[in-house]
Amino acid sequence: MTTPTPQRTLPDGTPIPALGLGTWRMGERADLRDAEILAVRDALRMGYRLIDTAEMYGEGGAETMLGVALQQAFSAGEARREDLTVVSKVYPHHASTQGVVDACERSLRRLKIDSIDLYLLHWRGDTPLAQTLDGFARLQARGLIRHWGVSNFDTQDMEELYALPAGPQCAANQVYYSLSARGIEFDLLPWQAERRLPLMAYSPIDQGALSSHATVLALAHRLGVSAAQIALAWVLRQPEVIAIPKAVRSAHLRDNLAATQRQLSAADLALLDAAFAPPRRKHGLAMI
Ligand SMILES: NC(=O)c1ccc[n+]([C@@H]2O[C@H](COP(=O)([O-])OP(=O)(O)OC[C@H]3O[C@@H](n4cnc5c(N)ncnc54)[C@H](OP(=O)(O)O)[C@@H]3O)[C@@H](O)[C@H]2O)c1
Repeated sequence: MTTPTPQRTLPDGTPIPALGLGTWRMGERADLRDAEILAVRDALRMGYRLIDTAEMYGEGGAETMLGVALQQAFSAGEARREDLTVVSKVYPHHASTQGVVDACERSLRRLKIDSIDLYLLHWRGDTPLAQTLDGFARLQARGLIRHWGVSNFDTQDMEELYALPAGPQCAANQVYYSLSARGIEFDLLPWQAERRLPLMAYSPIDQGALSSHATVLALAHRLGVSAAQIALAWVLRQPEVIAIPKAVRSAHLRDNLAATQRQLSAADLALLDAAFAPPRRKHGLAMI
């Protein structure tokens, strides 16, 4: 039995799971490939329905690994394509109108699927945003992507994006957000909340570091949960945030999915605020 994951909503009303699986650092080593394929299938069996990847991860290796895992999972009846949200990202140096189209076609071939549900510009480069958005529009017209969005965009970048005619069609912004990277709470998070634009929190466990942080561990111990669950429940306390922790180990996958059922009390949040101070002024966007 799997517990349904809470959902968020994209601006056009499409539901999207509040928790997904990250794949950075996967698809880089041949000797780990089988274990990674099994981890993705394990995740799907547990109930994960959102997977985040990028052409950058393993220079196509993560998408290729994921393509195999998805085919195996579909054949074994472990998941259905129509129930999944697959997110991938285009490099900024592929972000010209034709470059976006070509990069997406390569990603689809590696992923062995007909369309990407949410296709993001990985970070802002030198290509004018209007050109990238033209590429996204062409992909949408051909049914190769369903939604598009951005990643590592700060508030000023979002303002510039929204000033373009197609800008407000952006479906999400994926940024670094964790207990130790709270700068976006000052302006970007409220800016997105006002527009009901989901924020995808990457590295929500600080690449594993928060699972051994003394304050988080002490609170976790008192509540009878894991420290990673505290870190995830904390980012998920905000209704517009989606978390995409990466995990290969089965115990981690299970632990992270269960975090969607955890609530933190006002006293728990105050304790975390004392250890990880909320921002009191504008900070430049943190990036990993
Ligand atoms: N858009 C961007 O620029 C950008 C940048 C960075 C990341 N991302 C995306 O966000 C995803 C997540 O970020 P991330 O991979 O940097 O870091 P993360 O999800 O914060 O941490 C992943 C690490 O934490 C460990 N872990 C996972 N669950 C755990 C648990 N319950 N208890 C203890 N340790 C646990 C994992 O171990 P095991 O793997 O051994 O289980 C792995 O080493 C990426 O995979 C990627 O898809 C996007």
